[in-house]
Amino acid sequence: MSIVDLAALGDSFTRDPYPVYARLRAQGPVHRIRMPEGNAEAWLVVGYEAGRAALADPRLSKDWSRASPSLPLGAISSGPHMLRADPPDHTRLRKLVAREFTARRVEELAPRVQKTTDALLDRMLAAPDGRADLVEALSFPLPISVICELLGVPDLDRASFRTWSNDALGAIDPEVRTAAAASMARYLEELLASKRQQPGDDLMSALIHGPDGDGDGGGDRLSHDELRGMAWLLLVAGHETTVNLISNGVLALLTHPEQLAALRADLTLIDSAVEEMLRYDGPVETPTYRFTTEPLTIGDTVVPGGGELVLVALADADRDPARFPRPDRFDITRDARGHVAFGHGIHYCLGAPLARLEARIAIRTLLERCTTLDLDVHPAALTWRPGLMIRGPQSLPVRFAS
Ligand code: HEM
Repeated sequence: MSIVDLAALGDSFTRDPYPVYARLRAQGPVHRIRMPEGNAEAWLVVGYEAGRAALADPRLSKDWSRASPSLPLGAISSGPHMLRADPPDHTRLRKLVAREFTARRVEELAPRVQKTTDALLDRMLAAPDGRADLVEALSFPLPISVICELLGVPDLDRASFRTWSNDALGAIDPEVRTAAAASMARYLEELLASKRQQPGDDLMSALIHGPDGDGDGGGDRLSHDELRGMAWLLLVAGHETTVNLISNGVLALLTHPEQLAALRADLTLIDSAVEEMLRYDGPVETPTYRFTTEPLTIGDTVVPGGGELVLVALADADRDPARFPRPDRFDITRDARGHVAFGHGIHYCLGAPLARLEARIAIRTLLERCTTLDLDVHPAALTWRPGLMIRGPQSLPVRFAS
C-alpha cells in the first residue's frame, strides 16, 4: 500500500483537513500515512463505522510499551496515565477520579464557571476599541481556571505551562516535544511535593492522601509516577481541548450568520449547538495513540501486529455522510448526538460533562453580552495549531459591541 504523505500537504491540510480525509474515505477505511509530527509512519482509520470499531477494539493497545521500537515517538507524557493504559490498570486509574466528573458533580460547578466567564468578559468588553483575541480573552483562560481550581493549582505558571503543553502535544520536532515534556515533569514534581506538605480541599490532595492517608501509592492508590501522570493528563486535557471547542464553535457561528441568528433568537438551542460544534469541527482531530497487538483486518487491508501505530480520524468519522446527512453543513438544529468528538469505548472522555458545561456557559454568555460579534480577520488568514491531534485556531480576532 502506498504512503499518503500528510506531512507534505503543509498549511492547507492543517487549515482544512476535511476534504483530504473525505478523499481517503472514498478509497477505503484505512490508509498508510506519514504524519506531520516527526515524520512518523502510521495507519489512519477514516469513516464513522471503522473509526468507532477501532476506538473500541481491545486488540489496539494504549500501552506505549507495546509500540514497535522502530517508531520515532519521543516522550510526550509525564508519567503513566489513563490514555496510556489498558485494563486492568486503566480501570483502576479511571475509577479513582470518575466520581469527580459525573454530570451531577459537574453541574455543581456551574455557578463558578459562570462567575469566571463573567469576569473574563468584563475585562474583554472593557477594551476601548471593541476588539479582542477571543482565544486569549475567553477560550483559553476559562477552562484552565476551572481545572486548576478543581485540582487545587491556584498559582500555576500559566504562560510556561501553556507552552509546554502545546509543544508536548503539537510540536512537529520530536526534540521540542521531549524537552517540553521534561519541563512539565519537573514542574509537576514540585507541585506534588508542595501538595504533600500542604494538602488542601482539592482533587490532587485527595488523590495523594487517599483513604490510607500515606500518599505512598499502596494498594488501590496511585504510585508517585501515576500521580504525576494523572496531574499531567488532567491539566493537559484542561489546556488543549475545551479552548478549541469554544474557539471552533464561535468561529463556526461567525462564519454561518444564519446559524448565529437562529441561536441568538432562541438560546435554548445552546445544548444542541454545542453538540453540532463538537461534530462539525471538534477539538480532537485524531486522538491519542493506539498500537496493534496482533494483525487486524480493516476493510480489505490487514494491519500488521507488533506495535504498529494506529490513528483514528475523529474529524472524518463525524463528517461521514453514511452517519450524518449533509455532513459539511453546520446546522445547530440537527441531531448531532452519536458523534465521536469525545471518543468511544472505555477511553471515552472523562471530562465530557465539564467541557459541555463550560462551552455552553461561555458561548451563551458571550452572545448575551455582545449585541454584535464579528470576525476581525478573514477566516483564511487564521493560523491553526500544528499536528494531527489538536484542531483549533492559534488566535481568533473578533470585533464586538456590548
Ligand atoms: C471539548 C473538550 C474535550 C474533548 C473534545 C475531549 C476529547 C477526548 C477524547 C477524544 C478522548 C479519548 C481519547 C482516545 O481514546 O484516545 C478523551 C479522553 C479523556 N479526556 Fe477529554 N476531551 C475534552 C475535554 C476534557 C476535559 C476538560 C478533561 C478534564 C477534566 C478531559 C479529560 C479526559 C481524560 C482523563 C481522558 C482519558 C479517559 C480514559 O482514558 O479513560 N477531557 N477526551
